Amino acid sequence: MEFRLRANISSIRDRREVTDLAIFGGEPAFSRSMYVSRPSVPSLDMFMVRVAEAWERQWFTNDGPLAQELERELAAQLDVSHCVLAGNGTAAMSILFKALDLDGEVLIPSYTFISTAHALSMAGIKPVFADVEPDSWNIDLAHCQRLLTRGTSAIIATHLFGATCDVGALERFCKDHGLKLIFDSAHAFGCSVDGRPVGSFGDAEVFSFHATKAFHTFEGGAVTTNDARTASRLRKLRNFGFDENGHVAMVGTNAKMSEIHAAMGLANLECIAATLKRSQDCHTAYQQALAGVEGISVYRPDLRGRSNYHYVVADVDSKRFGLTRDQLLRVLQAENIVARRYFYPDRSRDFPYTDRLNDRLIQFPGGADVKVTDVEKICSLMAFIGNSSRDISAMLAASVD
Ligand SMILES: Cc1ncc(COP(=O)(O)O)c(C=O)c1O
Repeated sequence: MEFRLRANISSIRDRREVTDLAIFGGEPAFSRSMYVSRPSVPSLDMFMVRVAEAWERQWFTNDGPLAQELERELAAQLDVSHCVLAGNGTAAMSILFKALDLDGEVLIPSYTFISTAHALSMAGIKPVFADVEPDSWNIDLAHCQRLLTRGTSAIIATHLFGATCDVGALERFCKDHGLKLIFDSAHAFGCSVDGRPVGSFGDAEVFSFHATKAFHTFEGGAVTTNDARTASRLRKLRNFGFDENGHVAMVGTNAKMSEIHAAMGLANLECIAATLKRSQDCHTAYQQALAGVEGISVYRPDLRGRSNYHYVVADVDSKRFGLTRDQLLRVLQAENIVARRYFYPDRSRDFPYTDRLNDRLIQFPGGADVKVTDVEKICSLMAFIGNSSRDISAMLAASVD
């Protein structure tokens, strides 16, 4: 689909002066906040019809019929033998460490969400950070190679921002070095590699179904795996260690998903194709509209495989754009465009590509719920900001003094 910038969007058309920007006292471009990951929703009826079933049964948790149905549906959709739901992605990751008997050190990307490092630390395992690749922003195998020690037990690779990792290279590397391989697929529901859905790679994959994700259950998560033993251990681990006969077979925790959460998942799954299509349209609109804005490069999440296009992230080259990423964030946020930087990695280490992302990456409001007309409005404003960056920069500097 072709999208073109509309010059006649009223609020932007009238914005001829830098002083019209909201940061300098003008009217914000949006009357309500545009967030980066506004949850997508099915119709209330689609959700409530399932809630009513659970109500009728008075069965709300403990591996209920809706959770079981969602596990079956997800396993089928992701083309994987087992899907084990959990209360959230972090809990799913934590029980997987136990299911796979991880210990010692685990390599993880330096540019990812903090939950992985924290879950490892809480399990008594040392997270070891590897830098990311310059083009895909995913874990750099060459750096992993240099970080290997006798104590390394696994790699956890994140399919960051819906861009799939080099799964073949990671699987070979882990096999050669006797390591377990986990994918953090929190950002990658609906992505695929060579036609094979994300969900069946490595020893296991971990999804977050948090409300901000491409597919969600309000809060939730899952481990998917083709290994029956791992799945069976996960089922016990998430339910206090109880086995099928109600005996405590191992030390476990409570990481179950409730029926109400599963109901939301089933309703969302029914419309997932349309949801992903809207996200792609939104992403395409950004790519096209920002192509002409000097110094802003929209990240392509489909270099290695199919993306879910849920995240719209871009690199800000401050020399060419005229403002730093942080200055741009301030200007946009005043317009109620709640663009964000992402992650807060440790700066004490020498990771050139992570540091670069830390300074330059910006995430725009994206996903299925952002209308193409709103994207056009944001991008028109971006073009104006870029063209006026010298004046904006001077006024920002003056406002600090
Ligand atoms: C890359 C990544 N991994 C893991 C998580 C943790 O998932 P949850 O919030 O469901 O615990 C998140 C975010 O929520 C994430 O973005």
